[in-house]
Amino acid sequence: MENWVHNLTLFQVKDIEIKKEMEEFLGLFIPAQPVALYNPVRASLAAGGKRARPRLTAIWSGSSSSTLQWVPAGAAVELLHAFTLVHDDIMDHADLRRGQPTIHIAYGTNEAILAGDVMIALALEALARCEDASQMLPEFAIGFRGVCEGQALDKEFELRNDISVSDYLTMIELKTSRLFELSAALGAIAAGGTYLSQARLFARELGLAFQIQDDLLDLTGTPSFGKTIGGDVVEGKRTILFVLAMQQYDKCSASERQLLDALRERKANASDVPAVRSLFEKIGVLQKASKLAAEHANRAITHISKVTDMEMLEQLLVYTRDILGPALADRAITLADR
Ligand code: IPE
Ligand code: IPE
Ligand code: MG
Ligand code: MG
Ligand code: MG
Repeated sequence: MENWVHNLTLFQVKDIEIKKEMEEFLGLFIPAQPVALYNPVRASLAAGGKRARPRLTAIWSGSSSSTLQWVPAGAAVELLHAFTLVHDDIMDHADLRRGQPTIHIAYGTNEAILAGDVMIALALEALARCEDASQMLPEFAIGFRGVCEGQALDKEFELRNDISVSDYLTMIELKTSRLFELSAALGAIAAGGTYLSQARLFARELGLAFQIQDDLLDLTGTPSFGKTIGGDVVEGKRTILFVLAMQQYDKCSASERQLLDALRERKANASDVPAVRSLFEKIGVLQKASKLAAEHANRAITHISKVTDMEMLEQLLVYTRDILGPALADRAITLADR
């Protein structure tokens, strides 16, 4: 065990400590009774999540701010995140998350709705424990509202056939980036606000890259992705892949257009997923989406170039690689070097 720890970089060790703090706080924070309410809450917070958002809070809080400051703020953003996932899985008719049945499948829809609701109450309780709670609360409200607005657009777009890349980016900026931005901002606030604008800009771009990558993995991922591959195709989601594919419609053959028509009319099913993947590969949609993700990841990295705290900078780079994967992160860094 000791050798194993010695082989890790300082930043990986810090990351393990961050996750440990989070697990300990959340483990003690969730009430026991009534079990019908809190069992699904505990299940949705159970290990398997990357804790991507509280890790952002911890890193931006720097090494000088006390643990007491970032931990409840990190727990608040993780609870808000868990709430979005539980309600999102109901809205997206998803039955698998982190390789397990989703909360509404395992516990029932009413139980899942209420578990999501109470996680917001718990998030607010956690936030109230922070020294800077009065400054953090409005940030939390803005982030929370943004996610709801983004989710509303996501569902509205499913019924529309005129979604542009710009519409798509507006939607994911709300449903995904706002929560990343909130997570980073709370950390920067805990640290006295020095890097607040860099934290926001970095997290916003990282969130965009992360969601584009999530759309890609939804079609191309392996079982380790933990969600049903092709779920977005079956559900008729207006992902970046769909939007880019529709731009190629006129160049497609009659049989390819038939498949695109089925996607547009939300009539594709699980048996169409391999053909959709092949078509998206053939018409360059997967490559274009990866390029767009790399461009946003690159912008994220550009925004942290002004951070003079070298330890924080290194941690942010390690984090970016971990969250986006080495291939996308390296591509973004290569773009930055040009
Ligand atoms: C999933 O987020 C929701 C998206 C924004 C795509 P994560 O992939 O961070 O979820 P967990 O918590 O690690 O499972
Ligand atoms: C992610 O949307 C944003 C939120 C959950 C708010 P998705 O619907 O793509 O997330 P996953 O893929 O189900 O995790
Ligand atoms: Mg969704
Ligand atoms: Mg979903
Ligand atoms: Mg997804």
